[in-house]
Amino acid sequence: MSSEPLSTETTLQYFTPPADGSKAYNTINADPVTGKRETNWKHTPHTVSIENLRGRESEASLDTTGFQFFHHPAKHTSFANDEEVEREYYPESIELIKELTGASRVVLFDHTIRRRRPGQIDDSPQKRQPVAGVHVDQTAASAIARVHRHLPPADAEALLRRRFQIINLWRPIGHPALDWPLALCDYRSIDTKRDLVPMTLRYPDRDGETFGVQFNDSHRWKYVRGLTPEEGVLIKCFDSVDDGSVAILTPHTAFADPTTPLDAPKRESIELRALVFYD
Ligand code: OGA
Ligand code: FE
Repeated sequence: MSSEPLSTETTLQYFTPPADGSKAYNTINADPVTGKRETNWKHTPHTVSIENLRGRESEASLDTTGFQFFHHPAKHTSFANDEEVEREYYPESIELIKELTGASRVVLFDHTIRRRRPGQIDDSPQKRQPVAGVHVDQTAASAIARVHRHLPPADAEALLRRRFQIINLWRPIGHPALDWPLALCDYRSIDTKRDLVPMTLRYPDRDGETFGVQFNDSHRWKYVRGLTPEEGVLIKCFDSVDDGSVAILTPHTAFADPTTPLDAPKRESIELRALVFYD
């Protein structure tokens, strides 16, 4: 019997900005032939230790570390197509986010299903793979732009006067995510001024903005090994409460875990992105 590892050591791909001082950018869609996204910056590998919070999941919370694990089986488990996911999985997930956060209104604006397929070049929206690069999905500017984009103007203005967050709900599909799990960085261990670099995310019709994350020795990385489909993690990407009292975001990345059993099935997961409002 092997016992549950307390931590694992791996290489994470950090962000290094363009040498010429220009703003970093990525295209959202990969080139169908090369599988590469157009970009002007570099990944830099760094070896880190990632602590396994299995059995101590409650040590992480949205307002302290910036992320929070939950055990809550979904009624929808097939994730066969977008239409079904939106009809069945969205409503129960809205209720779950409200229950876990105490929010009064939750608007889902996006979802991504990822299935790891080694060697697959095609990374079009229906064939996304895990993301091997430390990032934050939103900056303050892109978070606020999301509210205007997805809600009527009268609503947006009123909602933005109160507390507002962007939270991802990430859940394994089909089997435990032992293969290429998700690592999350404790908010309290990052230097937001130094480590986070805004970068443009080029969509075909507009620009979004994300953060690349530069290496810092102080980063404390966590995961839950073998997270099951009955579990998941909420990942805070933005919080309008920016007075130092709460975590406002969570750097994260997928990683190759040397403790993954050789016969573990390849990771499959779904992430929902939510605008989360409070009274
Ligand atoms: C996310 C994310 C990457 C992955 O949920 O925001 O970056 O590999 N996911 O699942
Ligand atoms: Fe992300």
